[in-house]
Amino acid sequence: MAIAGPAAAALRSLTPEQLNFIQKLPKAELHAHLNGSIPISLLQELAQEYIASPPHTSSISDDIIQSGLKNLLDGPSINEIADFFTLFPAIYALISTPSSLARATRAVLRLFLDGEYPQCDYLELRSTPKETSEMTRETYLRVVLGELAYYGKQKTGLIMSLDRKMGPEVLRECVGIAIKLKSEGESLVGVDLCGDPTAGDMEALRTYFDDARSAGLGITLHIAETLQNPPQETLQLLSYSPDRLGHATFLDEQAKNLVLKNKTCIEICLSSNLLCKTVPTLESHHIRYYLQHNHPIAICTDDALPFRTSLPGEYALMLAQPPLGLGLSEAEVKAVGEMSMQARFKNLPIAETA
Ligand code: IMP
Ligand code: ZN
Repeated sequence: MAIAGPAAAALRSLTPEQLNFIQKLPKAELHAHLNGSIPISLLQELAQEYIASPPHTSSISDDIIQSGLKNLLDGPSINEIADFFTLFPAIYALISTPSSLARATRAVLRLFLDGEYPQCDYLELRSTPKETSEMTRETYLRVVLGELAYYGKQKTGLIMSLDRKMGPEVLRECVGIAIKLKSEGESLVGVDLCGDPTAGDMEALRTYFDDARSAGLGITLHIAETLQNPPQETLQLLSYSPDRLGHATFLDEQAKNLVLKNKTCIEICLSSNLLCKTVPTLESHHIRYYLQHNHPIAICTDDALPFRTSLPGEYALMLAQPPLGLGLSEAEVKAVGEMSMQARFKNLPIAETA
């Protein structure tokens, strides 16, 4: 996958020794969305197959598929976070059968976990179960878990994402399936809240996260991603007692104090924040606040395809000298890698899981 933008510039500025240090550093990727991490080469292959064999499994036209892929290939122009969500309909049209979903999952797992220097030692992949004409939400999750099983629980876990736009019936169905899969011993380790940050009623969601927590699933929530997210909503979400938080960009003092007190790990996605323009510069990024407070964080990619990044690229953004990076020392970067391994939704030490 071609890396470009801030992560590529940071990587280019490192010495061979620094690159080697990042490649070998033990680290966990804890915030990667499946459909935002599919290599473009596979999407192109799937697009060719889709266009060549009507009738289609989705209502998305060939033109929308082609322009969506061109946009991803060129590097999408994202002026605000809302632009980012328009990238997904074309991808979803291509990932609407069990076989295309399995191929996509396999490609993402390969991307993160294979090769001489795998991007990470452990991947907690997340995805929103989607119902299509070809599969139920339960089939969706089983297909993804089936691919994860080839790598084993030592290397992978699945987080089921709930979308802020889901209605009560779908939420109930999804959480019920997740609890069932966990009870069957599948590697479904947690539940996430994601999607358009301006949508949804957060109070109505509480009961589903309570159920997930009671079943022993980890909880992570995309929170305070934009300035439009009111402090009241942030406090509501924090009252679900999440184990981890995605982004947490716009926390006020009260929310920050709660997060520090509870030692809630923050999943930090530097390129994502810069490219979605929710954070103007690395210099002003909230990662600095959490580093100063020695607070648990995990550095993650979010959506490697549109943000044209990789986990080593995100680590390079910590190690590179300003203005390309944060200028952290190797010891500081190593400590961040350790924190990411600590924050996995695993209740067993890695050696004891199969
Ligand atoms: P999926 O859940 O595997 O389909 O991954 C893509 C989906 O993840 C998108 O449609 C969004 O709902 C969600 N997503 C990806 N990145 C973000 C983010 O930064 N904020 C909120 N939701 C996101
Ligand atoms: Zn995300």
